Amino acid sequence: MSDTDAATPAREAFLAASERLNGQVLGQDHLNDRLLVALLCDGHLLVEGAPGLAKTRAIKSLAALVDAGFHRIQFTPDLLPTDLTGTDIYQPEAGGFRFQQGPLFHNIVLADEINRAPAKVQSALLEAMAERQITVGRMSHALPPLFLVMATQNPIEQEGTYPLPEAQLDRFLLHVNVDYPPEDVERKVLGLARAEAADALVGVSVAREHAPVLNETLVTRARQEVLELHLSDAVEEYIVQLVFATRHPGRYDATLEGLVDYGASPRGTIGLERCARARAWLAGRDFVSPDDVQAMAHDVLRHRLIVSFSAEAAGTTSDDFIDALIQRVPVP
Ligand SMILES: Nc1ncnc2c1ncn2[C@@H]1O[C@H](COP(=O)(O)OP(=O)(O)O)[C@@H](O)[C@H]1O
Ligand SMILES: [Mg+2]
Repeated sequence: MSDTDAATPAREAFLAASERLNGQVLGQDHLNDRLLVALLCDGHLLVEGAPGLAKTRAIKSLAALVDAGFHRIQFTPDLLPTDLTGTDIYQPEAGGFRFQQGPLFHNIVLADEINRAPAKVQSALLEAMAERQITVGRMSHALPPLFLVMATQNPIEQEGTYPLPEAQLDRFLLHVNVDYPPEDVERKVLGLARAEAADALVGVSVAREHAPVLNETLVTRARQEVLELHLSDAVEEYIVQLVFATRHPGRYDATLEGLVDYGASPRGTIGLERCARARAWLAGRDFVSPDDVQAMAHDVLRHRLIVSFSAEAAGTTSDDFIDALIQRVPVP
């Protein structure tokens, strides 16, 4: 292992961002880590968790650390696709129509409660995520090169929601679950909230703490370094076999056959490789290990599988299924 070689300016900046994020969003290290992985992999995340778990706080903090334009869009049943994308507006002084950018034209976008808006709006978002451009009429408008969407879903309230179509979920690089923090962290959250409320009252400048540590150049450099990491043929084959096993689990264990209706797509394979690389890079290694693949497998694959009706009725989740595959697919 060559830890010292890996201390590049880009990596130092990401480590600083990680430390700051963990200091602002207490006890949600997993979410914080996945935000950085998504940024490193040029991907989007779907975050599922109850209200009040610091999801908004986390993505806002990330945007502040990257010095990026941020916008939150609350998804509601009456939202229209053009409320996201923008639209052509008649400009009398110019004597014609001009495109007025919608809120998607930001670097970091929080799509809050994505399942509260109907399918047309959801697909406008998902299309923008995949294509990185918005087409209105015959004109296409490019989204910024640094473009990261974090969508949230509340697992508790299902009434009056429009579940995301399974096929669209594949567009998210990561599906992250957030849970309540442990007691000791809850106490620290209280302390932090008190300190912040007191600061806000007296208008204390918290400029230093909020100064960005990353920028677009460093993010691009980091992405290059992630792609340059060594990934052996054996680890590559391991990734292929793990994803293949989601489609044909019977190859490894006959009892797993029939647990899933659909396995992960090649997009899942590509995502797993990229995320494993990002994890290795963040850890300061210059090669990707099977460990990196296993650590990312759940968040990359869980939303890309469709557990069969009978398996679901028996209480099997896609996480259980992924666990079983990790146990059975031979590790190189
Ligand atoms: N882990 C945490 N660390 C710091 N603050 C937290 C944490 N969890 C909740 N909070 C605080 O609780 C409130 C709710 O957070 P918010 O980000 O709005 O939640 P969500 O978007 O998940 O509904 C905010 O004031 C936030 O600062
Ligand atoms: Mg919120």
